[in-house]
Amino acid sequence: MKHIIVTVGTRPEAIKMAPVLKSLSEYSKDFRVTLVSTAQHRQMLDQVLDAFQIEPQVDLDIMRPDQSLSESSARALRGLDEILADLRPDLLLVQGDTNTVLAGAMAAYYHRIPVGHVEAGLRTNDLYRPFPEEMNRRLTSPLARLHFAPTVKARDNLLQEGIAEDRIFVTGNTVVDALLWIARERTDALPQEARGILDRGRRLVLVTSHRRESLDRDLDQICLALRELVQSFEDIEILYPVHLNPRVQETVREILGNTERIHLIAPLSYPAFVQVLRAAYLILTDSGGVQEEAPTFGTPILVLREVTERSEAIDAGVAKLVGVKRKDILRETSHLLKDREIYAGFARPSNPFGDGHAAERISRHIKDFFESQQE
Ligand code: UD1
Ligand code: UDP
Repeated sequence: MKHIIVTVGTRPEAIKMAPVLKSLSEYSKDFRVTLVSTAQHRQMLDQVLDAFQIEPQVDLDIMRPDQSLSESSARALRGLDEILADLRPDLLLVQGDTNTVLAGAMAAYYHRIPVGHVEAGLRTNDLYRPFPEEMNRRLTSPLARLHFAPTVKARDNLLQEGIAEDRIFVTGNTVVDALLWIARERTDALPQEARGILDRGRRLVLVTSHRRESLDRDLDQICLALRELVQSFEDIEILYPVHLNPRVQETVREILGNTERIHLIAPLSYPAFVQVLRAAYLILTDSGGVQEEAPTFGTPILVLREVTERSEAIDAGVAKLVGVKRKDILRETSHLLKDREIYAGFARPSNPFGDGHAAERISRHIKDFFESQQE
């Protein structure tokens, strides 16, 4: 029987790996799976593990308050190295573009263990945006043996970088599997703050913003734009679950704390967040995952970034890149809030990132990979 180690470190990795773990568990005659968490995130990861009732067999507990990128990479590398040396799996599966992913891929390389990369091939082609995720992804690709590209665009990016075609599999993004799973099972979960906004007859604008490249200056601009928005539109209320990064907390609370009709709340559980995605009138976000999820419900998205590696939603006309400048954010958001016709053009449920069956495809490709090795 083949042994697979699956790693997660942060909130989005756990969300996107949950369907893969579920699907792999259906191959219990073929694979044994060990889930190793670096716990690069603590509370935000545990929230997701609870929601999906997943318990890692190993928890490296590497998170430290406001730790530097080098610190988190070094801790993850050292911890994963020991685990791989000990357990010597037949495959290491990583997801996405965090420091946990690159550390895992490097550690596996040092032990000559093949790597499967879920959500491979996303690129902005700007090395510092998103930072450091663009580099984490780029460096993970040459280390990986199996590349699970969510979309054709992602596959083409990998081909362009010289990755062999027979190692790339277009699977869809597992976030859609996770979203549909939770939306089906947890319709009870709309949080109180969101319920209050809807009961007051106001339009709910959901905001998330936490990118490292925004922390020095752009997050201020984003927050100032949000403040002006509630002043200009009396019928909106903003719900902003604030990421636990202390630098994000500090800026957001300083500029937006105690502002009427802006609710700064703790990160929501995944089921609660999914219900807000569905109930929101509009979403302003710099999150990767949120850009991939919102199209399922037809909730329009304005992307608070200069560039995105998830351009499929923009190409489909359900999202727009608005940048990080106060004036641009204000202009574009006002436009969408005022013009019902333009809004209707955005509000069409259709998801270019996946069909809810990505995890099944990934498991099948892994099985084929092991079988081809035996031949
Ligand atoms: C990380 C990922 C980013 C991903 C994001 C998802 C890297 C370099 N970045 O960014 O790709 O979009 O997670 O949210 O891997 N913290 C807590 N509790 C938590 C989580 C974070 O207190 O549950 C605080 C800690 O002080 C921690 C800091 O946030 O040091 C930053 O966490 P870190 O994982 O380094 O980076 P993120 O900005 O969260
Ligand atoms: N999310 C959540 N609770 C929140 C905010 C986001 O469960 O309060 C989920 C969201 O649905 C998405 C994921 O977290 O699946 C995105 O995580 P994040 O924005 O932290 O990371 P990114 O996707 O930008 O890497």
